[in-house]
Amino acid sequence: MTSSSFYFFLLISLCSFSFGLATTCLDDQKELLLALKNNLAFDASLSTKLVGWNQSVQCCDWGGVTCDETGHVTRLDLSHEAIHGAIPSSQNNWKGLSSLWYLSMAYNSLTGSLPRSLLTSLPSLEDLDLSYNKLFGQVPDHDVSSYRLRNLDLTNNNFVGEIPSFVFNLSNLSTLALSANKFTGRVDLHKFGKLHELYSLELSYNNLTVNAANADFSLLSQLNSIMLASCKMQAIPDLKNQSRLMMIDFSNNELSGEIPNWIWEVGNGYLRFMNLSHNKFTRLEKPYTFPFLLDVLDLHSNNLQGDIPIPPRRVYILDYSDNNFKSTIPVTFGNVLRSTLFFSISNNNLVGVIPESIRNASSLRVLNLSRNKLTGPIPLIGNMKDLQSLDLSVNMLDGSIPQELTNLTQLSFLNVSYNHLSGRIPRFEQGFSELSFEGNEGLCGPPLKKRCP
Ligand SMILES: *[C@@H]1O[C@H](CO)[C@@H](O)[C@H](O)[C@H]1NC(C)=O
Ligand SMILES: *[C@@H]1O[C@H](CO)[C@@H](O)[C@H](O)[C@H]1NC(C)=O
Ligand SMILES: *[C@@H]1O[C@H](CO)[C@@H](O)[C@H](O)[C@H]1NC(C)=O
Ligand SMILES: *[C@@H]1O[C@H](CO)[C@@H](O)[C@H](O)[C@H]1NC(C)=O
Ligand SMILES: *[C@@H]1O[C@H](CO)[C@@H](O)[C@H](O)[C@H]1NC(C)=O
Ligand SMILES: *[C@@H]1O[C@H](CO)[C@@H](O)[C@H](O)[C@H]1NC(C)=O
Ligand SMILES: *[C@@H]1O[C@H](CO)[C@@H](O)[C@H](O)[C@H]1NC(C)=O
Ligand SMILES: *[C@@H]1O[C@H](CO)[C@@H](O)[C@H](O)[C@H]1NC(C)=O
Ligand SMILES: *[C@@H]1O[C@H](CO)[C@@H](O)[C@H](O)[C@H]1NC(C)=O
Ligand SMILES: *[C@@H]1O[C@H](CO)[C@@H](O)[C@H](O)[C@H]1NC(C)=O
Repeated sequence: MTSSSFYFFLLISLCSFSFGLATTCLDDQKELLLALKNNLAFDASLSTKLVGWNQSVQCCDWGGVTCDETGHVTRLDLSHEAIHGAIPSSQNNWKGLSSLWYLSMAYNSLTGSLPRSLLTSLPSLEDLDLSYNKLFGQVPDHDVSSYRLRNLDLTNNNFVGEIPSFVFNLSNLSTLALSANKFTGRVDLHKFGKLHELYSLELSYNNLTVNAANADFSLLSQLNSIMLASCKMQAIPDLKNQSRLMMIDFSNNELSGEIPNWIWEVGNGYLRFMNLSHNKFTRLEKPYTFPFLLDVLDLHSNNLQGDIPIPPRRVYILDYSDNNFKSTIPVTFGNVLRSTLFFSISNNNLVGVIPESIRNASSLRVLNLSRNKLTGPIPLIGNMKDLQSLDLSVNMLDGSIPQELTNLTQLSFLNVSYNHLSGRIPRFEQGFSELSFEGNEGLCGPPLKKRCP
């Protein structure tokens, strides 16, 4: 061992020694954790943390447990532990964990309700994550003493009833994630306007009616994401001054008319995710400039008309399908899609030819131009070596199927049916069935029954 590595070794040993000393478990904390373990039903063969909680190891070193320097438990991460059954509801299970600020039991199979004691007996609790379980019933309201709560994640459970009103009293609330439950009732967005620290608001996929009128978010300076899919919204909330917003999901609402052009300017150019699909928008208010960093732009299933919008250059997912766009595809369109993985503009009214530049969109995994009125030949895209799905069906494409399509080794779905293609079908290793080629009078050879002359 060289002197420098010895020194290093010494340093490490000293560090771990002092670390070990500082976090010796307190007896009462150990007893509480063991009692908690006793009250939790879990599958020992799938557990990696709880299963190792025993007397032979001091409790601050147990899996999922973190202590402070005084030996009090501060974090408890029991996610992915194959826990089933109910969350222990006795105050005695929680009360002594007076320094616990982080508790996660996410990704288990917890059933039953959210015990009131969890919210009232943990005075230091800041982060509570119970997402991806099977919890149900109403979230208890009133008498909530955990006013320190900053992050509450109940995503993907079966909670019912109204959104508990105590959340509006949590002055430091940062993340409220209630998506994919069965919450009902009306939510006035303006109530969130006084939660100055709000960073992420997620209410998607419940049975809520969100009222965005008069929502004044001008005091929210931290807002990063607002996920309000399937919220029966009839108006877009005013987000004009949100300078940090990166994610917007207003899909599957009742929004109509123009997509306001200011929406592309929120987040000072840092907007990365925009989902406005499944609404009744008819056009994009002009002039508009898509933010440069936008990764995901989903406008599908609206009633958008006019020319197809030129997407931002970094877009990974671009969905314009099921609209009423009526234009040609601009000659240079493919050059803009160089980093795009998914592009669909199926089921619109596009005319003209598929531009040659599409071969420059060589990152594409999915290309869907089906159900338009496109004419001319299938372009030469044998270079798209990552392409997995190509749907050109129900157009008016003519000419033969280019031999070089057989170079697409990743291609697992192909549909060129219902066009005006002709000639012999090239031999694809994948063995596509006749359903990939039907409805083209001039095509011949296997897998079609029609023989070539
Ligand atoms: C206690 O848990 C440790 C892992 O944390 C394990 O190696 C040991 O076998 C366990 N001892 C007993 C007695 O269960
Ligand atoms: C909110 O956060 C501030 C700063 O971190 C803290 O001083 C205050 O006590 C917190 N309020 C509550 C109710 O926890
Ligand atoms: C919220 O705070 C108000 C007053 O600040 C109080 O009247 C109300 O009971 C509180 N609600 C809950 C659920 O704690
Ligand atoms: C949604 O809530 C309404 C009442 O607000 C109720 O009539 C309807 O049955 C609920 N739908 C579902 C799917 O739970
Ligand atoms: C947005 O900010 C501008 C200037 O920073 C201010 O004049 C305007 O009132 C703000 N609008 C809203 C809705 O807060
Ligand atoms: C956009 O929202 C719709 C409906 O809520 C959803 O099905 C779709 O997957 C979302 N798109 C993206 C790219 O996440
Ligand atoms: C192409 O888009 C249409 C319309 O959204 C859809 O029905 C079809 O399944 C898509 N094709 C593929 C291969 O996903
Ligand atoms: C494809 O991109 C190259 C530059 O990488 C460019 O020279 C060429 O013109 C583009 N092809 C078409 C058809 O636009
Ligand atoms: C297709 O593959 C053949 C043989 O592997 C090769 O000669 C040809 O250059 C390839 N064409 C394209 C466009 O990649
Ligand atoms: C291709 O599209 C046509 C028309 O929508 C459809 O009938 C056919 O089943 C599709 N083929 C495949 C392989 O999905």
